[in-house]
Amino acid sequence: MKKNILVTGGAGFIGSHVVRRFVNRYPDYHIINLDALTYAGNLANLSDLEASDNYTFRKCDITNISEVETLFKEFKIHSVIHLAAESHVDRSITNPIDFVMTNVVGTVVLLNAFKQYGEAVEGRFYHVSTDEVYGTLGDEGKFTESTPYDPNSPYSASKASSDHFVRAYHETYKLPVVISNCSNNYGSHQFPEKLIPLMIHNIKNNKPLPVYGKGENVRDWLWVEDHASAIDVIFHKGRLGETYNIGGNNEWKNLDLVHKLCEIMDRKLGRSEGKSAELITFVTDRAGHDFRYAIDASKLETELGWSPSVAFDQGFEKTIDWYLENEVWLEGVTSGAYQSYYSNHYDHR
Ligand code: NAD
Ligand code: TYD
Repeated sequence: MKKNILVTGGAGFIGSHVVRRFVNRYPDYHIINLDALTYAGNLANLSDLEASDNYTFRKCDITNISEVETLFKEFKIHSVIHLAAESHVDRSITNPIDFVMTNVVGTVVLLNAFKQYGEAVEGRFYHVSTDEVYGTLGDEGKFTESTPYDPNSPYSASKASSDHFVRAYHETYKLPVVISNCSNNYGSHQFPEKLIPLMIHNIKNNKPLPVYGKGENVRDWLWVEDHASAIDVIFHKGRLGETYNIGGNNEWKNLDLVHKLCEIMDRKLGRSEGKSAELITFVTDRAGHDFRYAIDASKLETELGWSPSVAFDQGFEKTIDWYLENEVWLEGVTSGAYQSYYSNHYDHR
């Protein structure tokens, strides 16, 4: 009998990498991908898995209690890997309620369903979260698992709240849970509202490259496949009730990263040196913009033996190549809903 593993948000950026990894590596699992297919969910990300006999997709909104419970009754769910979320900070500033609904209410709906109908004796509820719950850093220091929560954006506040509910279900109901908090991911299939695919798309189309503020904010970037491998390790070996930080040890100032991208794109597009960088445009800073994120991932490295597999130069180049080779994907998701979002968000800046 295959174990039914419910992955939520599997049609999104990170979720699609996790689903593909688990379907291909674990034939004894039946992976059920539950996703509402919001603007960020794209089933084309997983078209290669449609014929797999250990994969099922279900369109479902995690805030819909009766639909979620029906699914838990239909499949005896052994474990949950919960990635479904509203994930973009700028959207959370414009519309915080969606973030409370999906990230907070939706997480509690899933916890409750798992508690009532899941195999909470043997299985586990794995909650995928972000380092943004810890707030912002100055020039020095890194987030550890014991850094106090101090979220600044509606997105990070909603993720912090969901983390607290997961912990509360562990303390109160002894639900077997594990949480990870990861830094910024980059890689294929990321919706081009996030920095890297947005800039690739704009460079290609000779559009302005909107850098917030002075571009001095710092992010730690991890290749999405390495996040998926960390999720695999933590799902199988992480201690219940624990939190694990995941990071790339790879900090970049936004402006430096955009310059690096411009240099690579000049080379790949056969443009003269410095051409793409002419598109850089400084725009009004994001409200409440966290200055710096950096992760101390030593607990995950020493306890569970995980480390990133790919150097940034290599992962970044692969990522750029993927967007250039998958023009159809990029153009597809940048039409329609995305375009109106784009003009609502950037036209006045
Ligand atoms: P994403 O926005 O690309 O994908 C989110 C997915 O969730 C989409 O497929 C969407 O359709 C689905 N979804 C949204 N609302 C839903 C709902 N109400 N019901 C069911 N499905 C719904 O996000 P991502 O970047 O892949 O992030 C996945 C998870 O990882 C999130 O929990 C996010 O907080 C976390 N995370 C992301 C990053 C990052 O750099 N992207 C870093 C650390 C943690
Ligand atoms: P983003 O990809 O939105 O991730 P997060 O806000 O979760 O870190 O942004 C990464 C960094 O890039 C962040 O400091 C904001 C900045 N940024 C820009 O300067 N311009 C942009 O158009 C976007 C989307 C982000």
